[in-house]
Amino acid sequence: MSVLPAAAAPAIRSGRQVVLELDELSTHLATSHGPVTVVDGVSLRLGAGETVGVVGESGSGKSMLMRTVMDVLPAGARITGTVRFTGTELGYGGWNKGRHLRGSRLAMVFQDSLSNLNPVRTIGAQLADPLRHHLGLSRRSARSRARELLELVQLTEPQRRLRQYPHELSGGMRQRVMLAMALACRPDVLIADEPTTALDVTVQRQILDLLADLRRELGMAVLLGQPRPRGRARPDGPGGRDVRGRDHRVRADGGAVRPPAPPLHPGVAGGAAEPRPAP
Ligand SMILES: Nc1ncnc2c1ncn2[C@@H]1O[C@H](COP(=O)(O)OP(=O)(O)OP(=O)(O)O)[C@@H](O)[C@H]1O
Ligand SMILES: [Mg+2]
Repeated sequence: MSVLPAAAAPAIRSGRQVVLELDELSTHLATSHGPVTVVDGVSLRLGAGETVGVVGESGSGKSMLMRTVMDVLPAGARITGTVRFTGTELGYGGWNKGRHLRGSRLAMVFQDSLSNLNPVRTIGAQLADPLRHHLGLSRRSARSRARELLELVQLTEPQRRLRQYPHELSGGMRQRVMLAMALACRPDVLIADEPTTALDVTVQRQILDLLADLRRELGMAVLLGQPRPRGRARPDGPGGRDVRGRDHRVRADGGAVRPPAPPLHPGVAGGAAEPRPAP
């Protein structure tokens, strides 16, 4: 397993509580060609109210890194290294210490989340699910909280939206609904995997602005997967930090990083990384 020295882990801005800490996190997937390493020795610290972008070309392991943090991985995945949430180490598989924290204190908007809305259930019914499941709210309380959540994500006419079906909403509106679902339990950490990719440029900007507002209002930390750095369009502006995925490595802007692993096939260096056989 590759090693990223702790000293090279992206530093957080001084004075912030560390909410999420990854230490030498690696993920090996089982495939028909044997195990492959898709996340390789990632160390990272995320402070309260801070945004860190996970940036990298397609196949560099952004989604796998975020799914590893949330313990949502294909069957047979093997994980080494640690994930800590406010100092508590989160376990993996089955029942573990992290299970009740994931989905409530840590929430994720998945890359293909727009297609994950159930087409035959209203927005209100789908929003109420996590509220009833995680918070144990009654049907009536969940309904009124769902409305508040739609207001929080600045969706117009929230009462009407609750009765609508996903196909009645635009892509940007549906993405706001997905954000509202992730925010249902007021998480301390929001993991958003390319939340704007499927949207047009104006709507992308609106969603990133909304994330910035929510981060400030709720004091939430955001781990944001993006195909490339967006400069000023980042949710915490030009001062924010990015880490880069490349050849399964994630590194801070300008941070030290080991040389990339040799590509499996000639000619892929600098392009999308191929999975590397696990050690
Ligand atoms: N279920 C799976 N089984 C085996 N390998 C997989 C599986 N899912 C993804 N991979 C491999 O893991 C590597 C990392 O994929 P990942 O989806 O994390 O990339 P990404 O950086 O999110 O790409 P994109 O920008 O296209 O979303 C890729 O090489 C991919 O082929
Ligand atoms: Mg991805």
